[in-house]
Amino acid sequence: MAVERTFSIIKPDATRRNLTGKINAVIEAAGLRIVAQKRVRWTRAQAEKFYEEHKARPFYGELVDFMTSGPIVLQVLEGENAIAKYREVMGATDPKEAAEGTVRKLFAESKGANSTHGSDSPAAADREIALNFRLDEIVG
Ligand code: PPS
Repeated sequence: MAVERTFSIIKPDATRRNLTGKINAVIEAAGLRIVAQKRVRWTRAQAEKFYEEHKARPFYGELVDFMTSGPIVLQVLEGENAIAKYREVMGATDPKEAAEGTVRKLFAESKGANSTHGSDSPAAADREIALNFRLDEIVG
């Protein structure tokens, strides 16, 4: 299986509750390596650009409000099959549907305040990493 990189965000609901370390422990226990990490606060323009594929969806404004409401932790995760593996580690978007032991089952508050984001395809991972990290910030 190929070693891949995926892009992850620890969202404002999780940083507010001081859960970065607990979420990182779940990520590392799953065999994923955090090869880049920074804590930032996005501007509206950054959040709008990142989520532009959801522009037409009814929750877009709410999503941008939420993602700019507090600090977030941006990460690049590396490992075998990292994109699919991290989606599995996060669990379903809605915590009510997430499997036991997943990050969202353990920590998420709602479908919007769901603690984490992870890329859903290799193309998305490439785009999301390039939007948020310089190459020299990623140390594998
Ligand atoms: S998925 O996984 O793309 O099918 O999930 P989807 O339901 O399409 O949601 C895409 C992202 O939008 C967020 N979301 C919401 N935010 C605020 N309010 C509501 N109601 C809401 N519903 C969905 C969801 O957390 C997904 O965020 P990311 O960061 O992509 O995981």
